[in-house]
Amino acid sequence: MNENSKYEGWKRVYEDYPLEALPWELGKPRKVLVELIESGRIGKGRALDICCGAGTNTVYMTLKGFEVTGMDIAPKAIEMAKEKAKKAGVDIRFISGNVVHPPFKDEEFDFIFDMGCFHHILPEDREAFIKGVHRTLRVGGKYFLTCFSYKNGRAWNHFTEDDIIRHFSGYFRIKELKHYSSLEGDGVIRYFYSVLMEK
Ligand SMILES: C[S@@+](CC[C@H](N)C(=O)[O-])C[C@H]1O[C@@H](n2cnc3c(N)ncnc32)[C@H](O)[C@@H]1O
Repeated sequence: MNENSKYEGWKRVYEDYPLEALPWELGKPRKVLVELIESGRIGKGRALDICCGAGTNTVYMTLKGFEVTGMDIAPKAIEMAKEKAKKAGVDIRFISGNVVHPPFKDEEFDFIFDMGCFHHILPEDREAFIKGVHRTLRVGGKYFLTCFSYKNGRAWNHFTEDDIIRHFSGYFRIKELKHYSSLEGDGVIRYFYSVLMEK
């Protein structure tokens, strides 16, 4: 199977459903991202919103002074994100494509934000994905991952603290690892980890 076709289903998600029907689309930036940026723990610079969806967090980071690129496999999501950026009056580079092999230069970014990207990458692509994030982040740059927790029940993409350490500690220094809950757009409380890592 071609690598991109494994993720084709995402294209239809944004074509077949209105944004309000997508549980992750809260219509406002993620609280964990807002807290991280407001705390000043992340220096302003070149940022990548990896799997940016319809661009809510991407626009927020831009308004906060980052020079942001958003990438997602769903062209319709990128179209919506561009529209959102236009409405907000900000200039953002949006790219449609598969993030497993990101088309960016080595050390291109100071900060990579991942809201629900890694946990949708298929197990056989996880290592390539992590290597891509590592390669495109500068030394000393930060990777902020949020992913589903085991507390949502057993599933192939629900992780424990040990899973996270096993996947990422060979590439990054794990500076913070927190468990949190979030009321999602479909009214369901879901559990996540937020992980701040440094290259
Ligand atoms: C749970 S949504 C999160 C979207 C966005 N980060 C947000 O918080 O609104 C997951 C996103 O990952 C994208 N995606 C999934 N697999 C991908 C891949 N291999 N390459 C690029 N984008 C992908 C989907 O199209 C979808 O927009």
